[in-house]
Amino acid sequence: MASLLEPPAQRIDTTPQPMPALSGRPIAGSRYWSRDFMEREWEAIWTKAWLIGGLASQVEKPGDFFTYHIGRESILVTRGEDGVVRAFYNVCPHRGKRLVMEEEGHAKRLACSYHGWRFTPDGELAFVPCPEDFAGGSPCGKVRLAEVRCEVFASFVWVNLDPDAAPLAEHLGPVGPQLECYRMEQMRRTHWVTLEGDWNWKCVQDNFNESYHLPFVHPQTRFVMEQSYRECQFDLYAPHGHARMFMPGSRPARSLRGHADTVLQMMSRELAYWGLDPEDFREDPLAIREALQRAKREKGAAKGYDYARFHDAQLTDHFHYTIFPNISFSLKPDGCIWLRADPHPTDPERCFFDMWYFTWFPEGVDRYYAYSMGQEVDRTTPVPHRRGVVGELSCGPGIDQDVSIWSEQQKGLRSRGYRGAHLAGQEARVRFFHDTIDRWLEA
Ligand code: FES
Repeated sequence: MASLLEPPAQRIDTTPQPMPALSGRPIAGSRYWSRDFMEREWEAIWTKAWLIGGLASQVEKPGDFFTYHIGRESILVTRGEDGVVRAFYNVCPHRGKRLVMEEEGHAKRLACSYHGWRFTPDGELAFVPCPEDFAGGSPCGKVRLAEVRCEVFASFVWVNLDPDAAPLAEHLGPVGPQLECYRMEQMRRTHWVTLEGDWNWKCVQDNFNESYHLPFVHPQTRFVMEQSYRECQFDLYAPHGHARMFMPGSRPARSLRGHADTVLQMMSRELAYWGLDPEDFREDPLAIREALQRAKREKGAAKGYDYARFHDAQLTDHFHYTIFPNISFSLKPDGCIWLRADPHPTDPERCFFDMWYFTWFPEGVDRYYAYSMGQEVDRTTPVPHRRGVVGELSCGPGIDQDVSIWSEQQKGLRSRGYRGAHLAGQEARVRFFHDTIDRWLEA
């Protein structure tokens, strides 16, 4: 009989990847504030890369739509009467007014508020006032909204402004199959916050491309996860530009073995949920991780979970990824956090930062405690989109700590005294990210 701790048949290949060659080029502060650099990024990256526009669940039924603003463009995503999800430039072809102003909704016809042209969700012009007044006859049925490349994968609608872009699967490379393992389609978005921040979008992606900052920005996490780079696995996926990091979780860093009180206090709720007595780990809190993995294997099915496709490590550890250019996420079988940093339309020192948390509700359970967010979530309650500026809204305790850094970092990056980054070895993913940017700019 196979041991409970042996990985069952599963999908993720956790084999460490070879480190690609990295440049030693300076990462200058001007990359974060130069308008010229911002314009180059727009032409070479934002109009060429696959980007997450929104969720497939936002366009569940024919006639559903949502809009996604990226830089100076607005993209309209619809589900057509034929059931197909499509994306269009959100522009009325009559005289250029933005067609849809709402963030999301449902309409049989999408009407322009300027002269009343109306379009089907499939993008076809269906009505114009005074059709006899057009030379050549009514434009209905002849004019369409300008289409944008669009694919649905892992519960997201991905868009690409480049009609000649390679398919999404090619762009995602090895990350795509790893993502599939988590069945994002079965999770529900239970948090949605957008902040307008006064920092460049790369501050976000840099931050989530390293864990060097964890003991200082997130000191509490030392009690429940390993942070030493010597015990974590970092992989860089060349040439795709994506990266991943595995960090042991559900136990303290080895150096904190003696802080059992804090560890047990932080983990008591989860231990109790899985039928474990915190006191059993007072002498050796490092044993919590393996005990939790066993408990989840033994009791998961009875509690409505299906862990068969996951490694034991996936049940407790932090599997963190970045997708070039602007997505980062941490995956667990019962929930995951996704972060997106979009550029501002005109100001390189501003960006839009999205936090989405997705919860996988066990079979038959509507209310569930999301450990990563530190609060209960409800399957049946609609999730409001909360938008604001930094300080107004919380993205959860951990992410708020990250957010607190970026405004101050942007000021430093703008200073004449900043001479460019000095990176540690464990910040190789930051170097890789900037090398990937350069590669796209040069292409
Ligand atoms: Fe839309 Fe005229 S610009 S109908």
